[in-house]
Parts: sequence; structure tokens; C-alpha cells
Amino acid sequence: MVPLLLLLLATARGMAQGSYRPTLASPTLGAQITTSTFVLEQPRCVFNIQDDVVIWLVVAVPEAVSNFNNSVEPGTPERAFQGFPTSAPAYMTLNTTLLNYPCPKAPGDITVLHVGIEASCARDEKRPTCNGPLPGPGPYRVKFLALKGSEPVAETAWSEPITLRTARQPGSIPARGSGHSAGTIALTSILSILFAILLAGLLAMLVFWGSEAWGGSSTFSKPEAVTVRRYNTHHVYDQPAARL
Ligand SMILES: *[C@@H]1O[C@H](CO)[C@@H](O)[C@H](O)[C@H]1NC(C)=O
Repeated sequence: MVPLLLLLLATARGMAQGSYRPTLASPTLGAQITTSTFVLEQPRCVFNIQDDVVIWLVVAVPEAVSNFNNSVEPGTPERAFQGFPTSAPAYMTLNTTLLNYPCPKAPGDITVLHVGIEASCARDEKRPTCNGPLPGPGPYRVKFLALKGSEPVAETAWSEPITLRTARQPGSIPARGSGHSAGTIALTSILSILFAILLAGLLAMLVFWGSEAWGGSSTFSKPEAVTVRRYNTHHVYDQPAARL
């Protein structure tokens, strides 16, 4: 019932509201999501319009989605990349004519869009439609909006929330950390075993030498007895001297 009402409303406003949701490109293409970029599928065979329109990508914080105003024009401060996400709850970028999204797609066509790859204009206020690096992990929601002049004429649905990688991504650094500790464990084990063998050898040698020494002990005990006797003699002589 609600979608039907929305459809009627959209039709009444002359706005084609597609059910297509922008989607992330297939992971087989490599780095699909980084800390500041993501890759989307191009909206091919999505806009069923012949008009001379320009298709924009809208990138928004999730909170801005529910009452998003399509009539705010790209390039205005409220849609400037440089103000996102503080003064601008969304920005509009990657504008291109529908001709650049031909349908059907030819084999070998590049059919993805790299969002966030234009670092050179990220701080340039004169380029509010900059496709600059995303300011944080998000999440972000995106949609495509077709403008005829400044008039919104068609749009897609909003994407699912897109969350980027963080510097401390669970999948990357702990994996490297555990790999490192595995190496350390292996090295420690080898060193421990070598040390144990060395210690055992040393102990065996000591025991062997010790038993040999105690076995023929007659030569060792004689000087010891002599020393003790001499000490006692000195001690006996010293005592009367101390008394005097
Ligand atoms: C995209 O928008 C910018 C700024 O509004 C404009 O200068 C440029 O010509 C547009 N490009 C296309 C292909 O519409």
C-alpha cells in the first residue's frame, strides 16, 4: 500500500522512482572497499528515459535519507563535498550524461564507478562536485539522481548502508599480528629445544666428571684434611695470645 502511494506521488510529481538500488561492485575486481573509497556498479539499463539528462551520484549520511530534498542543486554549499558530512548532509558527484551508461553493456566495458578517488580537489571549495576521498568509515548511503537542467526527473532507490574499512580493520592487522606471533612461537620453540639439548649435554658431562672425581677421591681428600688441621692449629695458638 505504501509503495503504491509513493509511486502515485512520484508520478504526480513527474518523477520516475526506480526500484533499482545502487550496489557495490563484485569483490572479484579487487579492492572493492578501502578506508576512503568504494566501487559501485554503474547504473546500466536502469533509467528508462530518453531525455537529455545528467545522472548524478548522491552520497549521504544515513540520517539525511528520510527527508532528502532532490531539488537542492548540485554544487550548492548544502551539496558540496568539502562540507560533507558537517555542513552538507550529502554531496553530489560523478555527473555524466546517460550516454555514458549505455544499455545493453558491451562485453569488455568498464561498468563500475570508483567513488572517492579524486584527492586533488578534496579541499578546493571551487569544486564542490569533487569525487574526493570519503571522510571516514561511514556508513554512507548512495543513490543516482537524474536531472534535466536543474529539475529532478528520475532517481533510483537508496543503497544499503556502505561501511568503509577502518585503519584497525579486524581482518587485516590481527591476522598479521597472529602470523607474527606464530613465527615467534616457532622460533622460541626451536631455541628452547636447542637450549634443552645443550643443557642436557652439559648436565651429563658434569655428572660424568663428578662421578669420576668422587670415584678416585683419595687424592682430593688428603690436602683438605691437611688444611683443616693447620687451621685448627693456628686457632689454638691464637687464643692464648688474645687473652694476654
Ligand atoms: C558536471 O558538473 C560540473 C559542475 O556542475 C560541470 O562543470 C561539468 O560540465 C558536468 N559534467 C557533465 C558530464 O555533465
